[in-house]
Amino acid sequence: MRIYVAESYENMSRKAANILSAQVILNPNSVLGLATGSTPIGMYKQLVSWYNKGDLDFSQVKSVNLDEYVGLSPDHDQSYRYFMQKNLFDHVNIDPANTNVPDGLAADPDEACRRYNQIIRDLGGIDIQVLGMGHNGHIGFNEPDDAFELETHVVDLQESTIEANARFFASKDEVPRRAITMGIKNIMQARQILVLVSGEGKADIVKAAFTGPVTPRVPASILQLHPNVALVGDKAALSKL
Ligand code: F6R
Repeated sequence: MRIYVAESYENMSRKAANILSAQVILNPNSVLGLATGSTPIGMYKQLVSWYNKGDLDFSQVKSVNLDEYVGLSPDHDQSYRYFMQKNLFDHVNIDPANTNVPDGLAADPDEACRRYNQIIRDLGGIDIQVLGMGHNGHIGFNEPDDAFELETHVVDLQESTIEANARFFASKDEVPRRAITMGIKNIMQARQILVLVSGEGKADIVKAAFTGPVTPRVPASILQLHPNVALVGDKAALSKL
């Protein structure tokens, strides 16, 4: 694992954007695995800024997002599809047909999961997967559990995740209780992983995930077994490593 320590959130965002841009420049056909949440927002902003300067071309890029809430439509302002449109897709020349986010409105969510696995396979797998990390160690919406879930699946969100995400909704009651998420195998099969962490609040879980035992109780700990991980964080988040 390569660890990149950044002075600040802005610096972390720029380092992460540099890694993602290098991938796109070296391979314009890249399959990017993307994440939502507050941590990568600065990275997306930086990518849009470099795109506007003419330094990046997304015309051949394909993307697959990690997860989506069950029950939220693409135009709901808290859906992850909406997040991606507002933070990246609407501002760069990526072909909308090449962007994939799990279908939160699917009449049969299990079938939507199977379709999503097939999309990832048809794309030839993921070149670089961006990840944030939940305070409980979740990646995507793979919550702490007795076993690692392998492929895309429907998950019941844990109370701690619902509480953490309530800040984005009018009230906690409006946070969806279920989500569709890529599984650990989908994530681990990515050829490169880019983990972003920011803030003192993540320091304990970063330490547990990267220096503790590999266990499904801390889903991010599986990343210790991946051969090509870049961990980019600000000083506060990396302070306990
Ligand atoms: C987002 C995702 C989640 C977040 C995690 C951290 O697509 O899958 O695992 O990466 O909850 O969220 P933030 O960045 O808001 O702390």
